Amino acid sequence: MQNEKILIFDTTLRDGEQSPGASMNTEEKIQIAAQLERLGVDIIEAGFAAASPGDFEAISLIAGKITKSTVCSLARATDGDVKAAGEAIAKAKYKRIHTFIATSPIHMEYKLKMTPNEVIKRAVNAVKYARSFVSDVEFSCEDAGRSDINFLKEITDAVIEAGASTINLPDTVGYRLPFEIGQMVKTMSEYTKGRAIISVHNHNDLGLGVANSLESILNGARQIECTINGLGERAGNAALEEIVMAIKTRQDVFRGLDTNINTKEIYPASRLIANITGIEPQPNKAIVGKNAFAHESGIHQDGMLKNKSTYEIMRPEDIGLNLTDTLVIGKHSGRAAFKDKLTKLGFELNENDLNSTFERFKELADKKKDIYDDDLRALVTSEMANVEKAYELVALQLMDSTGGVPSAAVSIKHDGETITDAGIGGGTIDAVFKTIDRVTGYSGTLLDYKVTSVSKGKDALANVTVKVMFNDNEPAIIGHGLSLDTMLASAKAYIGAINSYISMEGKLSLRKSCNDECGI
Ligand code: KIV
Ligand code: ZN
Repeated sequence: MQNEKILIFDTTLRDGEQSPGASMNTEEKIQIAAQLERLGVDIIEAGFAAASPGDFEAISLIAGKITKSTVCSLARATDGDVKAAGEAIAKAKYKRIHTFIATSPIHMEYKLKMTPNEVIKRAVNAVKYARSFVSDVEFSCEDAGRSDINFLKEITDAVIEAGASTINLPDTVGYRLPFEIGQMVKTMSEYTKGRAIISVHNHNDLGLGVANSLESILNGARQIECTINGLGERAGNAALEEIVMAIKTRQDVFRGLDTNINTKEIYPASRLIANITGIEPQPNKAIVGKNAFAHESGIHQDGMLKNKSTYEIMRPEDIGLNLTDTLVIGKHSGRAAFKDKLTKLGFELNENDLNSTFERFKELADKKKDIYDDDLRALVTSEMANVEKAYELVALQLMDSTGGVPSAAVSIKHDGETITDAGIGGGTIDAVFKTIDRVTGYSGTLLDYKVTSVSKGKDALANVTVKVMFNDNEPAIIGHGLSLDTMLASAKAYIGAINSYISMEGKLSLRKSCNDECGI
């Protein structure tokens, strides 16, 4: 008999993007969507179309590109939001509108200032209107975890009647314990008796997002909403990789159930999201943390040498992690071998991207002895995430600041012309960024600055992430820079943020929030 499928609904591009500091540019979102499709997620929540013109554009580009997964946009239960969602996903082969309104007494009274009947009416209208765009409509009872079960039944009946085929029960504030979520899901699954798929969306405020999701599956949920690396609002969402690997590893418990996820794409997906957002999973994070498969203690190592099953419940290769991943090709390798390696890592590059990435690989191989898979992943991510480069770093020179005034000279190409300027600052980074400000005419406030080493060794590539605010009324922009030299990587990251800002100028707005009548 065939296993029953648990649908995986990935919301990295929507709820994940609401993580502080996780905003992504359009190119990056498209790259992530392509990886989610390779991973085999059933539904990609590509964004919240009404949030800003930039979100709308990204969703619609993703809709035009993705052919295997369903592409979904979030929409509050208003005509404007539903219309924006419907239009943004119009080009998708498989499409879904996900509309929601809060159903807990506390949200209805204080946030929405609406009676339960008004909420039902609003939900029904939104679902009916959404059905005029698509046949696949999901309805979420926001804050279901703190909603009255009888009200959940009542609104569920109404929205199913209006045309919703998936009912999502979010634990929006991450308040519930597994046995409570289990009871809610069981009651609702039995109540709906196959009239709709019951879904859950668990936040991680008490660290229970994954446990609550697994308990939900055991009680009848057949769709799980989750994110790569557990990204998401506040403490994040349930982590996709943990849920999927728990189902796969504990088939004795989840007998007869599985997902469509190709688990070998988990590690590449995790690295891609970490490289793009600059948010590294904690080292001891389950499945994808740097230490998740590292056995340090002598006793463990001894056991592992005798038989891996003594201390290993999953194999690194199951998630696509190759622990001995030194590149077998080097600086003398040709383009074909390089392309082949990238294909094995899951990248499909067009000719232009392949040529430019190959050039950068050659430059790197000239300077760096060992090149690891993670180096290549970072290289491809940074090369492909490049938005239109209005400004490009040509050269950077730093003056010795020992005891003196930190200063930097920067040459930047813009409109075919190279502009050079020099400046001073409180520290070297300050001098570099201020000089870039002067050359480009864009001045940002640096909110965050992070350096991580991409792989190991003293000659490791530095991946610098900056978070810059160019305008108080707009979200902060993330920029990335990759180089063997940390200062060069920093300058590239800052210029990357400026380029990203230019590419999104006019399409940005702060996410609509709770002061809207149906806000999130
Ligand atoms: O946490 C939540 O309730 C949400 C909904 C919009 C699904 O993200
Ligand atoms: Zn959420």
